[in-house]
Amino acid sequence: MSRFAGKTVVVTGGAMGIGAACVRRFASEGAVVYIADVDDAAAADVAAEVDGARFVHCDVSKAEDWEGLAETALREQGRVDVLVSNAYALRFGAPHELPEDDWDLVQAVTLKAAYLGMRALAPSLAAVDGSVVAVSSVHAHASYPGFAAYAAAKGGLGALVRQLAVEYAPAVRVNAVVPGPIMTRQFAGMSPESIADEAGRTLANRMGRPEEVAAAIAFLASADAAYITGAELAVDGGWQVRHR
Ligand SMILES: NC(=O)c1ccc[n+]([C@@H]2O[C@H](COP(=O)([O-])OP(=O)(O)OC[C@H]3O[C@@H](n4cnc5c(N)ncnc54)[C@H](O)[C@@H]3O)[C@@H](O)[C@H]2O)c1
Repeated sequence: MSRFAGKTVVVTGGAMGIGAACVRRFASEGAVVYIADVDDAAAADVAAEVDGARFVHCDVSKAEDWEGLAETALREQGRVDVLVSNAYALRFGAPHELPEDDWDLVQAVTLKAAYLGMRALAPSLAAVDGSVVAVSSVHAHASYPGFAAYAAAKGGLGALVRQLAVEYAPAVRVNAVVPGPIMTRQFAGMSPESIADEAGRTLANRMGRPEEVAAAIAFLASADAAYITGAELAVDGGWQVRHR
């Protein structure tokens, strides 16, 4: 498939995990892909490995970094067709234990970044009938101890996605994927028993792979999803069905 030939894609948090899988997927389908990340070494490795990938240092919680990224992509490619808003921050704790700085960090990187990205890129996306895919989480819909900041940010992201779909229709489609447990560094340090426990909460009875989330993101960003906007697509192996 070459659904993204001639197109420019921005992937935040593209240096590893689901973001890096997106970089590989969009590039394999013909796109030039900008990795917007703060981990310069990991991002540079992905950019070097993947044909068509480039790295721009961008802390997604900083408006000036978004302006720099937009300026670079537009100067070099003349267009931005797709934004994948994937970077996040996670800090655990009930509110009385959670430092205010941690709360602010989670909201800034996980939620505010989607607003900043849209502020920087909406005119360019609208000019080419582009599309946005935000990466949410099952924690937007299910409540577990310790997840207050993250769940609030992801829940807000879901509302923001619907709002952005309204604001920028019909030119820009805006959707979200809602991953369940996906085998990235979040789980890398866990024991096999904990991972098996996590996998057992899904109907698929296994962890998801980053590539499986990237495939859903590429679908939503592509013309195959031309009549889909303001939607959430679960990519969770049935996790939410079991926990409803
Ligand atoms: N892995 C899972 O099980 C899972 C489940 C549900 C949702 N998600 C969501 O999927 C997305 C990706 O998760 P992952 O597991 O692939 O993460 P990951 O930790 O493997 O990668 C996250 C990337 O984001 C980058 N990043 C962090 N802060 C940043 C900032 N301020 N600016 C720019 N980049 C920054 C990191 O450097 C890293 O490259 C996140 O939105 C996460 O909430 C993951």
